Amino acid sequence: MRILRLAKAAVAAATIAVSASSAHAAGSGIHYESQDWSFSGIFGTIDHAAAQRGYQVYRSVCAGCHSMNLVSFRNLEGIGIPEHTIKVLASEAEIATINGDGETVMRPRLPSDRFPAPFANPQAARASNNGALPPDLSLIAKARANGPNYLYALLTGYHEPPAGMTVSEGMYYNAAFEGHQIAMAPPLSEGAVEFSDGTKATVEQMAHDITTFLMYAAEPHMDERKRTGLKVVLFLFVLTILLYFVKKKVWADLH
Ligand code: HEC
Repeated sequence: MRILRLAKAAVAAATIAVSASSAHAAGSGIHYESQDWSFSGIFGTIDHAAAQRGYQVYRSVCAGCHSMNLVSFRNLEGIGIPEHTIKVLASEAEIATINGDGETVMRPRLPSDRFPAPFANPQAARASNNGALPPDLSLIAKARANGPNYLYALLTGYHEPPAGMTVSEGMYYNAAFEGHQIAMAPPLSEGAVEFSDGTKATVEQMAHDITTFLMYAAEPHMDERKRTGLKVVLFLFVLTILLYFVKKKVWADLH
């Protein structure tokens, strides 16, 4: 009985969770097409090559306006960037520190330091962006409903506004953004970066790759979590079979 009640409660909780998330997605009334992500599903993992290209897009385009305050350079190890490269990447941006005399001095960043932020404070960020605040991107892939598909749709969603719609000054039409007017100018244009692995930098490719990187940043331990989950399921499976035979053996004489 107790198990039954527990199962009922679990089903009820799951139903609430599912309906809550779909209600949230339906809130904006915009449909985001599902893209083909390496990290979807229980076996999905982050495609390192795509995430590395995504970091290149972040560093050369998005980092001009968006911070990623929760990410440190050494997190790049998780997408397969070698340690010596990380050291170089980190050292290219300085950070303020206090020296032995209590003075503030600048030193090159270390792999343990966080990514540098483009603006000193939110006011400065707004002042440079027509009053709008570019959000920190560390957790953005998780902070929006249908995160990865939404991000892809947003970055590829700049079009001419439909006939009859006027877009306010300093704003841009975007099919994926709620209200369809966004203060971010189209950040991606064909060939905006030159990928070191020779991949062609189309807007779609860059949108796909930066989204993969942002997904990794928002959940750096996803791959590990999925692997552990799989091991647990396998273990439980083997245990179930074992217990079945043990039970058979124990009860054999009693029949
Ligand atoms: C020139 C500055 C600038 C650059 C470069 C830029 N952004 Fe933005 N971004 C903004 C501003 C400003 C906003 C806030 C827009 C608003 O609220 O209308 C924004 C908002 C966003 C949002 C939040 C949308 C939402 O749902 O609220 C995302 C995601 C985003 N940018 C991603 C990116 C990515 C990825 C790149 C690099 C490919 C990038 N941005 C490059 C200025 C920029």
